Amino acid sequence: MSFPYQLKTTADYKAAYEKSVQDPEGFWSEIASHFTWRKKWDTVLNWDFKKPTIEWFKGGKLNITENCIDRHLEKLGNKPAIIWEPNDPGEHHRVITYRDLHHKVVQFANVLRNNGVKKGDRVCIYMGMVPELAIAVLAAARIGAIHSVIFGGFSAQSIADRLQDAKAEFIVTCDGAYRGNKEIPLKSVIDDALVQCPFVKRVIVLTRTRTPISMIKGRDLWWEDEIRLVETQGSPDCPAEEMDAEDMLFILYTSGSTGKPKGVVHTVGGYMVYTNYSFVNVFQYQPGDVHFCTADIGWITGHSYIVYGPLSAGATSLMFEGVPTWPDAGRFWEIVDKYKVNILYTAPTAIRSLMGFGLEPLKNRDLSSLRVLGTVGEPINEEAWAWYDENIGKKKCPIVDTWWQTETGGILISNIAGVTPAKPTFATLPLPGVQPILVDENGKEVEGNGVSGNLCIKFPWPGMLRTTYGDHERARQNYFATYENLYFTGDGCLRDEDGNYRITGRVDDVLNVSGHRIGTAEVENAINMHTGVVESAVVGYPHDIKGQGIYAYVIFQGHQGDDELTRKDIMSTVSRIIGPIAKPDKIQFVSGLPKTRSGKIMRRILRKIAEGETSNLGDTSTLLDPGVVDEIKNGKL
Ligand code: WTA
Repeated sequence: MSFPYQLKTTADYKAAYEKSVQDPEGFWSEIASHFTWRKKWDTVLNWDFKKPTIEWFKGGKLNITENCIDRHLEKLGNKPAIIWEPNDPGEHHRVITYRDLHHKVVQFANVLRNNGVKKGDRVCIYMGMVPELAIAVLAAARIGAIHSVIFGGFSAQSIADRLQDAKAEFIVTCDGAYRGNKEIPLKSVIDDALVQCPFVKRVIVLTRTRTPISMIKGRDLWWEDEIRLVETQGSPDCPAEEMDAEDMLFILYTSGSTGKPKGVVHTVGGYMVYTNYSFVNVFQYQPGDVHFCTADIGWITGHSYIVYGPLSAGATSLMFEGVPTWPDAGRFWEIVDKYKVNILYTAPTAIRSLMGFGLEPLKNRDLSSLRVLGTVGEPINEEAWAWYDENIGKKKCPIVDTWWQTETGGILISNIAGVTPAKPTFATLPLPGVQPILVDENGKEVEGNGVSGNLCIKFPWPGMLRTTYGDHERARQNYFATYENLYFTGDGCLRDEDGNYRITGRVDDVLNVSGHRIGTAEVENAINMHTGVVESAVVGYPHDIKGQGIYAYVIFQGHQGDDELTRKDIMSTVSRIIGPIAKPDKIQFVSGLPKTRSGKIMRRILRKIAEGETSNLGDTSTLLDPGVVDEIKNGKL
C-alpha cells in the first residue's frame, strides 16, 4: 500500500494543517477517497456541537473489515497481519497472515450469524489478549454487529452494568486468561455477571487455559465446536454487511467524573479514516514495519492502534498476551529483539516501572530494529522520557508523545515521528484537522502563547465520538455543555511560547492510574457499599510508577478491630464492585470530611493532604467544621 497522505516534511505538515483548517471537507474527503467504499458519501460533514450532531461521510457505504482485510489480500495475502506472542515465552508464538485473518474472521462471522447475531446487535467481548480477541472484534464488524470489548480486569458487577446498559445479548469470552504468573477465570466472572443479566442468549467460549468451567446447555457454546460446525456447512465466505459510514462500529465504556461509566460510541467511516490517518502519520509507518503496541484491546489504544489503524494500513501488528515484568523485566526487549520490532508504542507507567529494574534486563538485547517510540495515556515525566530516549531509542528514535482519549478515537495532539520536532513532556502540535483551543473557567478563549487553560476542540474531526450509548443527553452534558460550541476534553493544558501543547492532567474528578481512567465517584460508590462505611472521599496523589495513586478517606463505623484487616476488606469490596484496577493505594480512616456549609466536600484540601502538602491548605474558613482538617492532617494511615 502507498499512502499519498503521509506527511514527510515539516512543510508537508504545515501545508496539510493549513488546508485542513481552510477546507476541512476537501481535506478529509481526499484522504477518505483512498479507502474502499461500496458507494461514495452524499455529504462530507454535518455538524452542530449544540445538539450534538456529528456526521462524517454520511450516505457512504462500506465495511471496515473489507478495508482492514479484503483489500490487502491480493498484494499482501501472505504478509503477517498479526504476530502473537504468548504470555509464556516457552509457548509457541503464532503468525496470522492477512489471508489467514480473512479466513478466521469470515468463519467466526458465520458463527455469530449462525447464533442469531444481526446488524446492530451488541456483542460483548471479554477475553484475554489472544488473536481470537481481534478476530471476534473484526467478525462482529463484518456482520454489522456493534462490539463492546470489556477489559479482562473488570469485575462481574462492572460487566453486568455494561451488559445492561448496552442490552447485549451475545458474549464472547475465554475459559480463562494468562497474565504473568496469574490466571484470570474469565468465564466464571461472566457467569457471576449473568446472574443479573437473564437477557443474554449466547456465550461463546474460547479454550485458552482449559480450567474447569460451567457450560449451560442452550446458552453456552464452545468456540471450537462452533467453528467446526461452520466448516461442515461449507460456507467459505461471509459477505460483509453493507454499513453506512455513520452506523455504529463499537461501544467502549469509560469513566467520567460522575455516575457509572458511559458507553462512548464510534461509527464506521470516520473512525476508520481517522485511525488510519493518524497511524500512518504519527508513527511514520513504512510498509514492512512491525508495529508493537503494548496496550490491551480492552482499551481504546488497543482498538485504534493494535486493530483498526495498523490493519487498515496493511501493517503487521504485534499482539502480546502477557505483562512487561514476567518472567522478568526484560520481556519487552526480548520481544523487540525476537520480532525485529520497528515501532514500539507503550505507556509512561510501563517505562517507569521498567526503569526501576536498571539496565541489566537490556543486556544482550538487540534493539537496533527500533525506529520510532511512542507513549500514551498519561503525562510522561522528563526522567522517563530521557530513559526511554537513551536506553531504548539509543537517541536515534524519535519519541512521539501522543495525547488523545477514548472519546477522540485516535491521536489528536502529537509530534510526527522525525517530521515535526519532539519536546520532552510536550505532546507538541495538533494533527491536521484538529483545532485545539484553551479556555478559562468562564469559557473565554485564552489567546496567544505562553498560556494555560482548559483544553477544548472547536471543530469536529472524523474520529470523534458521536454519542454515549442509549443516552444522547449524557454526551451533550458531559462534553458539549460546559463550554458553548466546544468539545471539552476534561484536561488542563499549557501552550508554550512556540505553540506546543503540554497536557497537565485532568481538571475533573477523573483519576489516571497507570494510564487507566477511573472516576473518583465510582470508587467512592464502591467503598460506600462496604458494610460499616458511612461516607468516603477519594482523591488522586502523585505516585512514582502509576502516575497517580488512589487515596481514600473513609468514615467507618463498623465493628472495631484490626484497621489493616478492615482496609483489606474494603479493597476486596472495591475489587468486587469495579475490579482490581480501582483498588485504593491508601485508605485513611477519619471521623469527618471537610465540607462546606452547603455540604460539598472540599476535595482541594483532601488532595493537598494526600500529596503531603499540609502546610499550606489555603482558606478553610468556609468549612462547616474546620477542626476536622487538623484531625485528618494529623491522622495516620
Ligand atoms: C490522559 C487513552 C498526557 C488525558 C488514549 C486524557 C494523556 C486521558 C496523554 C484519556 C498524553 C492520554 N499526555 N495525558 N500523551 N494521553 N492522556 O480515554 O488525561 O483512556 O484525558 O484514552 O488520558 O484516557 P483514555
